[in-house]
Amino acid sequence: MQKLFSDKLLHGADYNPEQWLHDPEILARDIEYMKASSSNIMSVGIFSWAKLEPQEGIFDFEWLDSVINNLYNNGINVFLATPSGARPNWLAEKYPEVLRVGANRQRNLFGARHNHCYTSPVYREKITIINQKIAERYAQHPAVKLWHISNEYGGDCHCDYCQDAFRDWLKNKYGTIEELNMQWWTTFWSHTYSDWSQVESPAPHGENAIHGMNLDWKRFVSDQTQNFMNHEIAAVKPFNPELPVTANFMYYFNGLNYFKFKNDVDIVSWDSYPLWHKKDDISVGLDTAMMHDIMRSIKKEPFLLMESTPSSTNWQSVSKLKKPGMHLLSSLQAVAHGSNSVQYFQWRKSRGSSEKLHGAVVAHNDRSDARVFKEVAHLGHMLTELSDIAGTNTNAEVAIVYDWENKWAVEDSQGPRNKDMGYIEEVQAHYRAFTKQGISVDFVDMECEINEYKIVVAPMLYMLRAGFEKKMRAFVENGGTLITTYWTGIINENDLMFMGDGPHNLTDVLGLYSEEIDGLYDHEHNYGQVTQSLAEGKLQGSYSCTMLCDIVNLQGAEAIMTYKDDFYSGRAVVTRNQFAQGEAYHIGSHFEDAFYDDFYNELASKLQLETALDVQLPDAVYAVARENETTKYVFIHNFSNQATPIPTLDVRYNFVTRSRADVAQEQWTLAPYEMIIVSIAK
Ligand code: GLA
Ligand code: ZN
Repeated sequence: MQKLFSDKLLHGADYNPEQWLHDPEILARDIEYMKASSSNIMSVGIFSWAKLEPQEGIFDFEWLDSVINNLYNNGINVFLATPSGARPNWLAEKYPEVLRVGANRQRNLFGARHNHCYTSPVYREKITIINQKIAERYAQHPAVKLWHISNEYGGDCHCDYCQDAFRDWLKNKYGTIEELNMQWWTTFWSHTYSDWSQVESPAPHGENAIHGMNLDWKRFVSDQTQNFMNHEIAAVKPFNPELPVTANFMYYFNGLNYFKFKNDVDIVSWDSYPLWHKKDDISVGLDTAMMHDIMRSIKKEPFLLMESTPSSTNWQSVSKLKKPGMHLLSSLQAVAHGSNSVQYFQWRKSRGSSEKLHGAVVAHNDRSDARVFKEVAHLGHMLTELSDIAGTNTNAEVAIVYDWENKWAVEDSQGPRNKDMGYIEEVQAHYRAFTKQGISVDFVDMECEINEYKIVVAPMLYMLRAGFEKKMRAFVENGGTLITTYWTGIINENDLMFMGDGPHNLTDVLGLYSEEIDGLYDHEHNYGQVTQSLAEGKLQGSYSCTMLCDIVNLQGAEAIMTYKDDFYSGRAVVTRNQFAQGEAYHIGSHFEDAFYDDFYNELASKLQLETALDVQLPDAVYAVARENETTKYVFIHNFSNQATPIPTLDVRYNFVTRSRADVAQEQWTLAPYEMIIVSIAK
């Protein structure tokens, strides 16, 4: 089957013409400018409920008919949204139950957005009606290419409906109240429940100390949101079963386990707003790269960059403009990591309300000779020329585990170190080392399969769930290389401690057991000293470590590095164990970046991992590849604001883009924030 949106790269924006219906000249200019910027897709209708159903049961689609027809007649297609992201006043006024109740049990007033209960029967009924009306009218329209379901689902509601739904969810999971008491360990502090009716969602002024319950609430909220999304999808799908759906996801969004949504959305999309120029841009670039790779990994297919800003945001304490070049670089970076679109919030700056100063393609001065517009148009033109890339994929030999439920558990736990437990930072430290070397990384969660990879890195798997320890064991048995870290294999999926030696069920795979773990203050650090060569001797000397220090007893594993300081000086901190056909490494602390760079550099040569390029790139430059059966495209990113020389690539490489530098030179120089794309036949 042909992959979705794989014939060309899309370019467009959230388009909110309902704000401008009083000014036909603006609407006409929009079309003109869309064409001038090589835009081919607009997301329409995201917050349009009040315009589409101005009064209960009274619908007005004429304006949307003309918007969609007009776009279509000008060669621009549409992602059509369901309008549940914000609701009309009449709805909240007549049915207050649609409004959210906070953890403090207080019901919100009308206002803002995302302010609705996912359980409320009235909200579900009303959204079905409007979604069906929209679908009936437009699902077969040739311009409409995708359902954009709601907008950035998120948040929780603690109303009575949600409490009942939570209890049902728990009954379904645990069966009896006795089992719930056992799994939540409620004998502690006499918190035993004698009836389901006593169970309530976590509250700041009530129960909030039962970790198992906090975890189940987060799972419930994620499931309930997913259920609501599917309720919305069920309303639109029958009108054209072929029309795919997406829901726009968010940056490291904590509230929803996006991996669980993978079978419900036909394509993943997300909204990316990196804080460029806040600190060094390569750090921000790698942080963003990881989010792109997570999004790509959810369905293991190209995704859509549903929103980004062409210039600045307006919600940071300081909102920086993108410096010249950064717009191209950041947009093509999304493509490099698997996006088949570059889209913006929003097309035209609003005149009033909270986002009037947020960056947009067209500013209040309405000029197409503005710097931002010109960069957008330049990018649009480039994307048209890069259409072959839409049919390519990412091939990864490395998987890193990023598991939402584990993150929830890590962040709620109270243990040797509670400050900034930094699950994401730990995962990123490993990810950066691979990405800087041009090695593509897939992300998996604990429900995914891992057999196909050469290396699996499982950072800080405090919780083990879904039988993942069995998958890791089988992976190593069959010849894989596994890396685990400190704070691994401590609790089960219900947040109960594993009994016996840990990491749970992995002690023989790792050839050690963890005896104690020491917490370090921010001002403290220890060192790992290399005691044994890993492969080529690049890992050498000592590396500082922080956060937590796992103190392990070796039972077959060999120490690669030992602690330098404290009473555990000389004890192993990095170990290797041969297990069946494979190898398992354990990293007992959180190290400075240089350690991960050298460690993974050695493993990459040992396992002959494929890299995007086989040259050494400078610090602020990295390369990543997308490929099809015949061609590999390599995207070389310069995240420095300086001209940066890189080694010359040999004649096998063809230039796909080369915007500014002189190709013929002995040494190539990337302009500040330049991205070049080269291709090589496979
Ligand atoms: C989100 C929303 C948009 C807009 C942007 C601003 O991504 O989906 O409606 O508010 O943020 O950055
Ligand atoms: Zn509710």
